[in-house]
Amino acid sequence: MPRAAPTSASATFEAPPNIALVKYWGNRDTELALPYNSSVSVTLAGLRSRTRVRFDPELDRDRVVLNGETAAEGPRAAVVRMLDRVRERSGIATCAEVDSENNFPTASGLASSASGFAALAGAASAAAGLSLSPRELSRFARLGSGSASRSVFGGFVLWRAGSRADGRDSYARTLYGERHWPELVDVVVLVENAPLKEVRSAEAMQTTVRTSPDYPGRLERLPPLIGRIVRAIGARDAGRLFPLVMEECDSFRDVCETTRPPLDYLTPASRAVLSEVRSLNRAAGRPIAAYTHDAGAHVHVFTLSRHVRTVRRAVASVPGVRETLVVRPGPGARRVDRSGRGDR
Ligand code: DP6
Repeated sequence: MPRAAPTSASATFEAPPNIALVKYWGNRDTELALPYNSSVSVTLAGLRSRTRVRFDPELDRDRVVLNGETAAEGPRAAVVRMLDRVRERSGIATCAEVDSENNFPTASGLASSASGFAALAGAASAAAGLSLSPRELSRFARLGSGSASRSVFGGFVLWRAGSRADGRDSYARTLYGERHWPELVDVVVLVENAPLKEVRSAEAMQTTVRTSPDYPGRLERLPPLIGRIVRAIGARDAGRLFPLVMEECDSFRDVCETTRPPLDYLTPASRAVLSEVRSLNRAAGRPIAAYTHDAGAHVHVFTLSRHVRTVRRAVASVPGVRETLVVRPGPGARRVDRSGRGDR
């Protein structure tokens, strides 16, 4: 028998975006979002999606409002799929109202699907009366958008690929908390005319799996590279970390560019930012900065506090750069509509 929603059937969650230092790219199971490789990310402070979910027996259809506007069919369908999972798991049959807004421009390439689905998974499951552990929430958010599994957690995060067919061992966790490395800074470089993402990454990555001749080689190189990246973060060793981050990003870009048809996410301005970072490092005689980007045109440039001014000035002067933001590692997702025990 389906049950009605519990009386306090509303919850609000906030979740941050994250930027991957080792990218998730390619699923062994697309239905369950089970990746071929583990990934590593930094959760970003100050940016967030805030999502309220309210189950309401009066509704005859799910209502989805994203950034103040009724959601278009595609994004709405993805939200409804997540609500359906929550309904299935909790035994609720009621429709819901979802209201979500980002405090950063959705099309800015700042991974709104990661923050959005982490916030939605948290709010919907809490509103349905499910009390999920952070690990369960990570698995749940993964089903909406793979990278959302990492936005549940703060600081430096590892999403282990896992090997089970049911996905129980594929979830994220914090490796080092948000205060582990206060000097590490992400200079987010927003470029002009960044194209809107036409195809979801979850779909694009499977074309890479099928067609890029370089994909198997990337998968082979990743486990030792992940080990080295995690150890460099642990030792707060920028001199070791920065070249590895760029190596990984170059490998990601290579498998995108050798996909048929090719996936090209960068604009000439993004490429000029990558060159600028290489020149900065050459001029300094050591790695003082590292670039990375995901499936979009904006570039994240990691550096240390003492180099921020130099790095920011250099990348801001690249033609086609619109704006730079200075972002630090931050906390993970949390419920924000009540205080006291059980909040995260
Ligand atoms: C390149 O799981 O965010 O950012 O929700 O379909 O857009 P969609 O996919 P998502 O894929 C993330 C791909 C990536 C790499 C990463 O964040 O690890």
